[in-house]
Amino acid sequence: MKTPKRIQPLVDEGLVDEVISQLMSGKEATVYVVRSGDDIRCAKVYKEADKRSFKQAVLYQEGRKVRNSRRARAMEKGSKFGRDQQEEAWQNAEVEALYRLANAGVRVPTPYGCFDGVLLMELVTDAEGNVAPRLNDVSMSAEKALNDHALVMTYVKRMLCAGLVHGDLSEFNVLVDSEGPVIIDLPQAVDAAANNHAKWMLARDVNNMTQYYGLYAPELLKTQYAKEIWALFEAGELKPETPLTGEFTEVLVEADVSAVLEEIQAAFEEAQERKQRIQEANEEDY
Ligand SMILES: Nc1ncnc2c1ncn2[C@@H]1O[C@H](COP(=O)(O)OP(=O)(O)OP(=O)(O)O)[C@@H](O)[C@H]1O
Ligand SMILES: [Mg+2]
Repeated sequence: MKTPKRIQPLVDEGLVDEVISQLMSGKEATVYVVRSGDDIRCAKVYKEADKRSFKQAVLYQEGRKVRNSRRARAMEKGSKFGRDQQEEAWQNAEVEALYRLANAGVRVPTPYGCFDGVLLMELVTDAEGNVAPRLNDVSMSAEKALNDHALVMTYVKRMLCAGLVHGDLSEFNVLVDSEGPVIIDLPQAVDAAANNHAKWMLARDVNNMTQYYGLYAPELLKTQYAKEIWALFEAGELKPETPLTGEFTEVLVEADVSAVLEEIQAAFEEAQERKQRIQEANEEDY
């Protein structure tokens, strides 16, 4: 097809040889199938900020680190330079997340870099070489649902160990190839330790996955992976190899009121004694 204007710079640089077809145009980006040498890849062209509809971007950006302080100040001020910097930070967030997750053992499309607002990555395909379907378009046996759900929970755990929460994980952002689920669409991934919304975003991600696989294996609907994973993370005990059970018991330690009262009484008596001793000492001085 005719090369779209936004991909032309990558053609000029020799990163892309040919644009084969448009895969889809979504809210945030338009995705193309391209050829680079002998490889068929995927090019995700981000829409300009004012054409994007991503709701509540602020929620997601909280806690994102901007290394350069001049840049950080410009972004806060909202000048043209600031907006450009913010745009670049947004576009780089996805490629950075892909590299980090690939390293952490999460199945994502292999990234090949982000250039001028175009992310180049592996095209995920099925056994016949066709573009892989989204999880939403796949039906499966209970056994497969249990197996793939467990895999996705492992990916969520590894992601969190790498410091990230996906933030928009759903059956529309998981592709399925012959080996299983592949996680996509990460520009909004949030910093787990620095973002105050990380906990409920993780819960929403996990619950979306559990609800979907639960259509095929209803026993999954009883599991409590979100609570289990977050509790381990908060306690500093979540490791990539930590086994997950899907079980979670809320620890409600009943307050022992009489023991507390006894302690207060003891502290009070001690303070009284001390006061008395000071008073006596003072009196001796006279
Ligand atoms: N690496 C890939 N391999 C194959 N297909 C892909 C790949 N990346 C994206 N797609 C296809 O393009 C669609 C849109 O990609 P993505 O979810 O990253 O963008 P988006 O603009 O956020 O879309 P949406 O708003 O629909 O979520 C995906 O649902 C998937 O069908
Ligand atoms: Mg998407």
